[in-house]
Amino acid sequence: MGAKAKLQQEIRQLAQQKNAIIFAHNYQPPEIQEVADYIGDSFGLCQKAQQIETKVILFCGVRFMAETAAILNPDKRVLMPEPSARCPMAAQLPAKLIQEAKTKHPGLPVILYINTTVEAKAEADVICTSSNLCTILDRLKQDRVLFGPDGNMAEYARHICGYDVVPIPDHGFCHVHVTFSFDPQIMELQREYPKAKLLVHPECDWDLQSRADLIGSTGQMLEYARKSSASTFIIATEVDLTSRLQRELPQKTFIPALKYAICKAMKKITLEKVKTSLLHDQFHITVPESIAKRAKTAIQRMINLTTSTETNSA
Ligand code: 13P
Ligand code: SF4
Repeated sequence: MGAKAKLQQEIRQLAQQKNAIIFAHNYQPPEIQEVADYIGDSFGLCQKAQQIETKVILFCGVRFMAETAAILNPDKRVLMPEPSARCPMAAQLPAKLIQEAKTKHPGLPVILYINTTVEAKAEADVICTSSNLCTILDRLKQDRVLFGPDGNMAEYARHICGYDVVPIPDHGFCHVHVTFSFDPQIMELQREYPKAKLLVHPECDWDLQSRADLIGSTGQMLEYARKSSASTFIIATEVDLTSRLQRELPQKTFIPALKYAICKAMKKITLEKVKTSLLHDQFHITVPESIAKRAKTAIQRMINLTTSTETNSA
């Protein structure tokens, strides 16, 4: 047995001993995805966090994801192998900026992308992910909303969902997904593979979104590829979603739109750190109760609006 397989086996045994479930986001490195009990997009991970029975959730992803799981599960112990793995976009929207926007635009509901700090979430009326933004907007029934931090998702909300969006901040972005916009490689790939479907994450710019066969979350890309009769797909998001797609649908071909679209925060999680985390019961992710309570209302509202037929105003 190779060193990697041995480490993975030790992790699986430890997870069982410690009554832990291992969650991994779709951008985790393949060797982490392979040991996970559940792999998903941001919304899938939220939903799954509400359904588990183990005492511990070991979260392989970035900080806002683990914090969301902790908020939804105050009676569980949420661990992160590397607590410094933070999404840089979340830092672009301090709570103060939201408070200022609310003062400037009184009465407008605040919809925040889940890629935000807990302090920001506490200021929101409702949270959304890349898979449910249009559903949330449709069910809120408000023509104009405050939305942040991702500027390209604000464009998606305007063009695809059809709502008037005031962005906070003016130009929030994901440094991984903005690299897709100025690279001619995608058009070259489309020329090389004329029958390939182009799947684009809504954090990419509108120009690329407008050329896509599907604009969607990482989970929606997997579902699309599963159901599609096409055999080749160009994937415009972080490279390790492509690893998952290729592993789970080996009869199809997945081409990363850009091989260097790598989220360094996601790659801070390693097998060694996962093992240490389980062994030493570290690092415990907690959220102060007063902030958690407010943030939970906005997160729970997202889940309710997405999964039920509830319609209401913010
Ligand atoms: P998904 O919810 O689509 O997996 O996206 C999370 C993310 O961080 C995208 O950059
Ligand atoms: Fe954040 Fe971008 Fe990484 Fe997603 S890919 S976690 S938005 S930095």
